[in-house]
Amino acid sequence: MRYKVDFLVVGSGIAGLSYALKVAGHGKVCILTKADASEGSTKYAQGGIAAVMYDPDSYEKHIADTLVAGDGICDEEVVRMTITESTERVKELIQWGVEFDKNGSHYDLHREGGHSEFRILHHKDNTGAEIERGLLNAVHNHPNITLKENQYAIDLITQHHLGMRVTKHTPDIECYGAYVFNSDTQQIDTYLAKTTILATGGLGNVYKTTTNPITATGDGVAMVHRARGGIKDMEFVQFHPTTLYNPGETPSFLITEAMRGAGAILKDKNGVEFMQKYDPRQSLAPRDIVARAIDNEMKISGESHVYLDARHIGKEQLMAHFPNIYAKCLEIGINIAKDMIPVVPGVHYACGGIAVDKKGESTIHNLFAAGECSCTGLHGGNRLASNSLLEAVVYAHNASQEAIQRVKSIKYHDEVPDWNAEGMILNEEMVLITQTRKELQEIMSNYVGIVRSDLRLQRAFDRLNLIFRETEDLYNKSVLTESLCELRNLIACGYLIIKMARARRENRGLHYSIDGIKHA
Ligand code: FAD
Ligand code: SIN
Repeated sequence: MRYKVDFLVVGSGIAGLSYALKVAGHGKVCILTKADASEGSTKYAQGGIAAVMYDPDSYEKHIADTLVAGDGICDEEVVRMTITESTERVKELIQWGVEFDKNGSHYDLHREGGHSEFRILHHKDNTGAEIERGLLNAVHNHPNITLKENQYAIDLITQHHLGMRVTKHTPDIECYGAYVFNSDTQQIDTYLAKTTILATGGLGNVYKTTTNPITATGDGVAMVHRARGGIKDMEFVQFHPTTLYNPGETPSFLITEAMRGAGAILKDKNGVEFMQKYDPRQSLAPRDIVARAIDNEMKISGESHVYLDARHIGKEQLMAHFPNIYAKCLEIGINIAKDMIPVVPGVHYACGGIAVDKKGESTIHNLFAAGECSCTGLHGGNRLASNSLLEAVVYAHNASQEAIQRVKSIKYHDEVPDWNAEGMILNEEMVLITQTRKELQEIMSNYVGIVRSDLRLQRAFDRLNLIFRETEDLYNKSVLTESLCELRNLIACGYLIIKMARARRENRGLHYSIDGIKHA
């Protein structure tokens, strides 16, 4: 099938949905999403969204905290712009129907690692699910928006598909839409679009242990990389310090940082605190520092996890503020009012991604990106907790304003051919894909984790090269499937992470190598 839309949106998390709501008054909008509409990292967000709301907080304090966490790599103009928009964008979420917890007439604000003030708006400990509910509801009620589930975007359409040779040095690469695998019909459809936005989320599944849902396979980043667009800062993979240690569970269940904000303390198995050895902010230091400290403690003790002690917060408060965590832990036999919680760091967030300017446009013309798949310069070397949902709404807004201005002057490229769907059905394909995916995750987790070295990165690079060639070979001869496309994309993201980690000689933010130069 061939479709034509003014605004093509790939992804139905906070970035894609809020963008769609903004542009919907100016043309036909089509949101494509590869699974159920609500599936994506947004739904699992616990802590909340950071925004400056009341005294004694101020934009300047939030800006300073973001810059400190980013370890000197943030784009200060971007930080300033994003934070000063925070209040307005959060109010829009509320107008669309999202409910945040209140304390009397004021919003109840939490605090998380690296924040000098209480500024996290939340909905108990399941903020993301509430945001997703509110936005999906607003989207379903908008007559100009069509939302299609089980639609997997495979590749962006550019001049390459009109027969032109496109390299990363080609000036003015343009996006004309996307080729999309319809899982219901098993056909590949052509979506011609005047403007396209990628809001495809993260890439946690490059690694073995992640808080990210199975949809987080770096599709947007890989598509832009293949289309020869710019990708940035991929070496900065954020590990969340406290995921529940529950071997075999995928994705890993998060124990929100807001719990440390409420007073929970990291301890070893003997109940002894250790964070004072690493940072004066102790359990509330930024994530890179806390995750490295835990990694080090685990190496010293030989244990597979450490503990988070929330017992002194009291059952009533725990149940009121963290009902999901309370219930989840109880399910596996841990009563958090009486027992310490076993925790371990897990891959959580990609600070890098599709390079975009302040209007959210990528280096490919008429292609925007917002949310976790993008790299705006806000996070630098390490994202400050709860700045991700904020970045997503700010950049969805900025991109929407630019796309609205432009859409009338853009023409469809009717000459774009349909996808050539030749290939064989290979019976052994599924097992090869599953096995290679596991191999990739092993390589990345063992050699490109919290602590890296030149030797480990070289080893990862060599191993990855082999599975890259095998997978390309498989891709070129077999009928396309979603799992094969995801595998290709995961490998592309792994490659970009390793390549950028090898290029960064200095230890900054989340990138730490034992061979790295100490940052002055
Ligand atoms: P997502 O919400 O991940 O949505 C991506 C969408 O793209 C999905 O709909 C997916 O199906 C779709 N998609 C992907 N590839 C394709 C494709 N090829 N074709 C079609 N569709 C595709 N951040 C905070 O600021 N505060 C928090 O409290 C917080 N807590 C978190 C807790 C957890 C457990 C996790 C995993 C993350 C948390 N984060 C938090 C990070 C934050 O939730 C995410 O960065 C953010 O939700 C990403 O939103 P998004 O719209 O970019 O992507
Ligand atoms: C959390 O609740 O700890 C996650 C917050 C975030 O990732 O920003």
